[in-house]
Amino acid sequence: MDFSIKVYEPNKGHKTDEAVSEDAIRVKTECLVVGVFEEKALSGIAKHLDILSNGMLGRLIECGEFDAKLGSTLILHEVVGWSAIRVLFVGLGSESDLNAKTFTTATRAAVRVLMMTRATDAFWCLTAVPFKERDTALVIRHTIITLHDGMYSFSEMKTKGEVTVPALRQVALMSSIVDLGIAQIGVKQGEAIAHGIKLTKDLGNLPSNVCTPTYLAEIAKKIAKDFPNLTAQILETEQIRALKMHSFLSVARGSVEMPRLIVLKYQGTGAEVSPIVLIGKGVTFDSGGISLKPGEGMDEMKYDMCGAGSVLGTMRAVAEMDLKLNVIAVIPATENMPSGMAIKPGDIVTSMSGQTIEVLNTDAEGRLILCDALTYAERFKPVAVIDIATLTGACVVALGHVNSGLFSKSDTLATELLVAGRQANDTVWRMPLDDEYHELLKSNFADMANIGGRYAGCVTAACFLSRFTEKYDWAHLDIAGTAWESGASKGATGRPVPLLTHFLIHRESR
Ligand code: BES
Ligand code: MN
Ligand code: ZN
Repeated sequence: MDFSIKVYEPNKGHKTDEAVSEDAIRVKTECLVVGVFEEKALSGIAKHLDILSNGMLGRLIECGEFDAKLGSTLILHEVVGWSAIRVLFVGLGSESDLNAKTFTTATRAAVRVLMMTRATDAFWCLTAVPFKERDTALVIRHTIITLHDGMYSFSEMKTKGEVTVPALRQVALMSSIVDLGIAQIGVKQGEAIAHGIKLTKDLGNLPSNVCTPTYLAEIAKKIAKDFPNLTAQILETEQIRALKMHSFLSVARGSVEMPRLIVLKYQGTGAEVSPIVLIGKGVTFDSGGISLKPGEGMDEMKYDMCGAGSVLGTMRAVAEMDLKLNVIAVIPATENMPSGMAIKPGDIVTSMSGQTIEVLNTDAEGRLILCDALTYAERFKPVAVIDIATLTGACVVALGHVNSGLFSKSDTLATELLVAGRQANDTVWRMPLDDEYHELLKSNFADMANIGGRYAGCVTAACFLSRFTEKYDWAHLDIAGTAWESGASKGATGRPVPLLTHFLIHRESR
């Protein structure tokens, strides 16, 4: 996909050689995409088009053919006097209600309809729509991410059947001349994030017989080769054992596939600057182990590496954006399988931290691999550690598929993540970590059990992790409900790459 910025000079007439708003009518494109406010106060360009077409748009609104409600659309073809082959009007709803969230709703609707037109290029006026607290780079990033999202399909494993190749190849994004520099940064960032999201989705959607721990390691090596600031280090079983990560290894025991500890370092600034560490749960298939899961829907446990996938996608995006930060990814990757070698309920393991864990349920394996990664992260003296994991079904019960669960004892870090999530349209909801919940993790035989019982399952899981995070600022994201969709539209969402990349963009500029 090819994105370019077209500038106009507000209220300055025809000074630039690019499309000024009055010139939108003369733009040669297969699809001119224009936003319209509900109360007929047509936004800048729509208003001009309306005047030049003797009020046609106004009449279509009047007679109810197009109500300009948020997300509504109208396509007009070959309008006399207009150079565009078609014009796609997009309802923006009420002008006073327009914000980052509703703007994305309108953008999504526009992308959906644009894809159906099979247009090969588009001239996107929506990026110039003004609204309160508008941030040009953010608007451009959203638009590019949404366009890529709308064009995504996973057909790598299909050999037959119609594979619909998207027609769209070029998009000109309109921006005000005063914002040109910022808009160009927005394009670079938007493309980088979109590429990261695609990587995350592809890794999630691949079946577990392809996307193994070794495969994840190969991908880490590949992105390290593609970007000069990235270096990958892959640790194998013996090296993992030498680190005393017995909790991690206990999960891998039952599987023929070998575990890997993936360490991917991005250096975007001086080596003395403390890094942010991202830890991703990389269970490439979670059968439950000896505490076997029921059969129904078990295929979806190939998505149990989506934390790892989102960390790899984020690292790729950070490298492509050239952020002036240091970021280190740590990914414990393994399968969770039953076998004669597998860990059994009641077995006790010693984690890298020295704390002992009674494994009462082998299906609570995420925390067993993450705890050792959290201890490993100490060596980097990080400013913050964020782990991302499809950790508990309980989180899906609590928050559904809308918000990811956010757990942190640091109000500052939690707020940063909440804000980044809202901006990125990839929201999180903060959950508690009170000391009282720790009671539930008591074990008669070890320092702790790996499950806390029936209630507050996502909280006790987070409390378990918190016991390994004493040495730094830490946040945990439970993405069990948000990393993929089930049913007819089964597929990875790429979340929380938008959240993490926006968080890191803010960290860079603070
Ligand atoms: N990967 C699962 C969590 C999960 C389940 C994510 C369903 C998305 C959908 C995790 O390893 C797991 O099995 N957790 C158990 C924990 C329980 C045994 C304490 C769960 O949530 O049932
Ligand atoms: Mn499990
Ligand atoms: Zn799992």
